[in-house]
Amino acid sequence: MSISTICCIGAGYVGGPTMSVIAQKNPSIKVIVVDMNQARIDAWNSEDLDKLPIFEPGLDAVVAEARGRNLFFSTDVEGAIHEADMIFISVNTPTKTYGAGKGMAADLQYVELCARQIAKIATSDKIVVEKSTLPVKTAEAIKDILENTGTGVNFEILSNPEFLAEGTAVQDLEAPDRVLIGGDQTESGLKAIEALVNIYATWVPKNQIITTNLWSSELSKLTANAFLAQRVSSINALTELCESTGANIDDVAKAIGTDSRIGPKFLKASVGFGGSCFQKDILNLVYICKSLGLDEAANYWEQVIIMNNHQRSRFAQQIVTSLYGTVAGKKIGFLGWAFKKDTNDTRESAAIYIADKLIEEQAHIQVYDPKVTAVQMHSDLNGLNSRTETENSQFLDIHNNPYTALEGAHALAVITEWDEFKTYDWQKIYDGMLKPAFIFDGRNILDQAALETIGFTYKAIGR
Ligand code: NAD
Ligand code: UGA
Repeated sequence: MSISTICCIGAGYVGGPTMSVIAQKNPSIKVIVVDMNQARIDAWNSEDLDKLPIFEPGLDAVVAEARGRNLFFSTDVEGAIHEADMIFISVNTPTKTYGAGKGMAADLQYVELCARQIAKIATSDKIVVEKSTLPVKTAEAIKDILENTGTGVNFEILSNPEFLAEGTAVQDLEAPDRVLIGGDQTESGLKAIEALVNIYATWVPKNQIITTNLWSSELSKLTANAFLAQRVSSINALTELCESTGANIDDVAKAIGTDSRIGPKFLKASVGFGGSCFQKDILNLVYICKSLGLDEAANYWEQVIIMNNHQRSRFAQQIVTSLYGTVAGKKIGFLGWAFKKDTNDTRESAAIYIADKLIEEQAHIQVYDPKVTAVQMHSDLNGLNSRTETENSQFLDIHNNPYTALEGAHALAVITEWDEFKTYDWQKIYDGMLKPAFIFDGRNILDQAALETIGFTYKAIGR
């Protein structure tokens, strides 16, 4: 079965970059990315490539090559569904904020809406691909909706979870460790799997394309994120012990990471992991385990989140304690607001929680981030609903220059590991700060010895 037109519902952090790379590598396939958010689609269509809705290194070049040739961004969801042979569902699946499973289960309303839209519009056979991260067994619900249309249209459902990380999305898509495709092990299911394998095989070696049944594929995605987050929580769980014993967490990480069975990645101690997925997917896993009565498994994975929350709040507490027990009226500079470097995404960023806790203590936060907008930072803080918008705005100042953000500050906290922070004129920053000038390096990226020579009081996580 060969595919001539692909539609992707959801032009977000996954749909946009993934489809751009698929279109770039498959110039003979028409790829239409649709979204109901007009502003997002307008931004994807922007002439000025700096105005794409998400910042990812290298993405502008991929979009420039494919857009208008075989890559299209549109709000005409129904038209694209009608035209496509293969439809990716790449919509958001956030943690539920209401009803049963509130605060834990994945909210599948957007996914179900897509399935219903496809059921309503389709007049020819379609392969429907789950790109969103979904609880194991979701394909059953999608199938149920699609198989009861009464139109005689045949649907094959595939699961093709995405493993890209933000900040390295293009690199991850161009050279993935693996591509995972799950589908029914029937004749038509296997044909659908093959059709999707052929699309990826234009640039991914076939031995890196893993095929499984639907349920293994759905569960592997949640499991991969749970394992990655668990490594971060595991290393973070040792930082306090390092601080009280004189061990250095970076040394420990290096020493254990050189064991080939452990490996060096995801062992960097931090203020805590953020991002839209780790917490959401683990909570979802915990919820599924609890629903099945698997309490020990649920408690095991929940501990990863508990440790992460602890790491964020203890970082904020360390700032308060070091600044003589009070930060009321004090200025604290934040370097970084994004949840990691090289992205403008702030979802679940530790910055939001640390700022919230310090504002609770009446500190004034002055932030500089190279890519995050002021509107986004205010909206993140207001989203916690701890205070009114007016109250928050009195405590949060956003700067577009790091030097002014740190001017007159009692302390600065490195929240995101942006490379540019290492290149600053630290003497100039020191001169502009109140003394003693504290640095709380939540990412352990700065040169401790050089900063202490200047006169800073430097505190890193796990040292
Ligand atoms: P996102 O919020 O950036 O994008 C989702 C988009 O879907 C939004 O623009 C929204 O307007 C659109 N949408 C929702 N319902 C729609 C509908 N019915 N019709 C048209 N458009 C609709 O989300 P994201 O970060 O791209 O994540 C999407 C999925 O991919 C999630 O399940 C997530 O867990 C998973 N995932 C995300 C990442 C990541 O790095 N962000 C990586 C791997 C997997
Ligand atoms: C993560 C996974 O890495 C992707 O494979 C997955 O596709 C994606 O989630 C998803 O499903 O959304 P992402 O959240 O974009 O990707 O970024 P990561 O590089 O995994 O970082 C997550 C968080 O952990 C960041 O806040 C990062 O700073 C933190 N982290 C990471 C550490 O604190 N220490 C580390 O050693 C690694």
